[in-house]
Amino acid sequence: MATLTFAESVPVNIFIEKHSLSIRIWHWTTYLALTASLITVLLGSTLFKTRDNVAMVQEELQQKGASITKDQAWAVAHEYSDKLWDTHKIIGYVICFLLLSRMIIEIAQPSEEKLKIKIRNALRFRSKNPEGLNEQRHFLFVKRVYLIFYVAILTMAITGLGLAFEDAPYLKDIQKPIKGVHSFVQYFIYSFILFHIIGVIRAETGRYKGIVSGMIHKKNKN
Ligand code: HEM
Ligand code: HEM
Repeated sequence: MATLTFAESVPVNIFIEKHSLSIRIWHWTTYLALTASLITVLLGSTLFKTRDNVAMVQEELQQKGASITKDQAWAVAHEYSDKLWDTHKIIGYVICFLLLSRMIIEIAQPSEEKLKIKIRNALRFRSKNPEGLNEQRHFLFVKRVYLIFYVAILTMAITGLGLAFEDAPYLKDIQKPIKGVHSFVQYFIYSFILFHIIGVIRAETGRYKGIVSGMIHKKNKN
């Protein structure tokens, strides 16, 4: 008996996706915006940390013959850190805009490309062989991880806006919890990015050859 290839063994091609142009543009713009945002977080938490630069400002000015207090040095060091977090805030607005665009894309795109419909179709899929069942489980797992990512990034956007408009009535008094949530949920984002990239590389080098080029130009996974 001839052995079936993987594609032949799965009778329904609901697991073989094409990505619309809008999703592909959205994906790579989001990738750039998030990378830029993460660079600001990395710099803000290391090189530009106010506390770590106070002594350096004092020493540098001392060498030039000016003696300043710790408080004065703090104000200078803090200004640089402020500039960086302002950049983080501006990139944050871009991320908010991208998130809004993703919602609009979801509403506007053909129904077979909607995340909700893809999940619903996968749930309805009844496999006639174990290979198909495994494929269904894997597909649903990946899509659910995307859903968790969308909830996490939405939380970052809402709390980020809460921090950006810190002087607004109602928001002033709840800055501490907002900052707490913003700082906590960041780890979901890092974890997603790490596992996503590992997952995509494994898929590309395994049985889903062409998955990455499928996110660049419209091409089937298999
Ligand atoms: C997923 C992407 C994001 C990550 C990983 C991230 C991470 C962070 C971190 C670690 C902080 C420092 C918190 C602290 O001091 O304890 C911060 C602060 C902040 N973030 Fe984000 N953030 C992200 C997205 C956003 C978005 C979408 C906005 C929306 C505008 C935003 C606005 C802000 C603001 C205004 C601050 C306060 C900066 C300051 O202290 O002056 N962030 N973010
Ligand atoms: C900041 C980094 C990244 C983020 C936040 C991100 C986010 C996402 C999201 C949310 C999706 C699902 C889109 C949807 O259908 O709703 C996705 C899919 C995808 N991403 Fe990324 N991505 C990142 C980096 C990358 C990189 C570096 C690659 C390539 C090496 C990549 C390749 C892909 C591919 C091939 C898919 C489609 C996978 C599938 O069909 O399930 N991503 N990404």
